[in-house]
Amino acid sequence: MTKMILDLDTGIDDAMALAYAIACKEIELIGVTGTYGNVYTEVGVQNVLDILHMLGVEGVPVCAGEEHAISKRVFERMEVSARIHGENGVGQVSMETSLKSKESISGVDFIIESIKKHGQDLVIVTTGPLTNLATALKTAPEITEFIGRVVIMGGALTVPGNVNAYTEANVSQDPEATKYVFESGVDVTMVGLDVTQRSILTTADTQLWRKTGSIGGRTYADMVDYYISQHSDLDSSCYLHDPSAVIQAIHPEYFTTLPMHMTVVTEGEAAGRTIGDPFKLRDPNPNVKVCLAVDSSALVKDLNYTLLSLFGEQTSGNVKEVESSLKSH
Ligand code: BDR
Ligand code: CA
Repeated sequence: MTKMILDLDTGIDDAMALAYAIACKEIELIGVTGTYGNVYTEVGVQNVLDILHMLGVEGVPVCAGEEHAISKRVFERMEVSARIHGENGVGQVSMETSLKSKESISGVDFIIESIKKHGQDLVIVTTGPLTNLATALKTAPEITEFIGRVVIMGGALTVPGNVNAYTEANVSQDPEATKYVFESGVDVTMVGLDVTQRSILTTADTQLWRKTGSIGGRTYADMVDYYISQHSDLDSSCYLHDPSAVIQAIHPEYFTTLPMHMTVVTEGEAAGRTIGDPFKLRDPNPNVKVCLAVDSSALVKDLNYTLLSLFGEQTSGNVKEVESSLKSH
């Protein structure tokens, strides 16, 4: 079992990453920290609480993290985020409001305390801007020595960005934070657009979730179908950005990585670009493992199998049908 913290800006693909982490038998989700990006921090945190409630998951602390980039005073949600993820961040689906509240400890302090407690046994997976983790490293630099793996969804090395030609959305929100984490000496794996756009999920997949008849299966199918409808560049499918990062943390064998000495451009029109550091090309200690290729068929199969198991577990009526879907998939 791998202990994991998810740092999310929930968000539809963040919600898929969360469901995978809950369902995967090899992951012990010790907490979720919320950040801004697809939605405001408070909205993302509430989405996580409501999803956990819907899926009947108890005992996972949810903490609110930073509300804006390190160098900014506020965060303003982009219109495109509301379009892609829906006004409420979860594709306009409605969920029962959780009776639980967020923890009183901040997301940053939760990260610091968890690293102190679990050290190398803990993997931190981030699927939003890196502000929470960078702030934790700045606040308590001593954790750099015993922190375990960090897997980030963010960046693009061999392909253009998705905000503009240079930058990917998560890094674009806080380039300084990403640069800080890259250059901190922490063991970072970058799961960027290079690989996340190679794996896609289709409406045929979500239809299988829906068929479980469970509330989780139906809600997730509606949520992801909304997300799919916003991918005008794809045919009835969507990219698997955030789930790819969680899956990489558990199944690195699906991915091909290149050790690189990476940095981030923080100013000018290329701000947010993740790129090899021209001054450290011959440095014998690369700071980031950049994922460049993925066995997308293994990844999508794994995601579908794991989520179907979760949604199927919630179903009482049509378990047989779910079981045969799992077998034929
Ligand atoms: C990333 O940006 C967000 O919109 C997604 O949730 C994902 O984390 C993809 O660039
Ligand atoms: Ca995200």
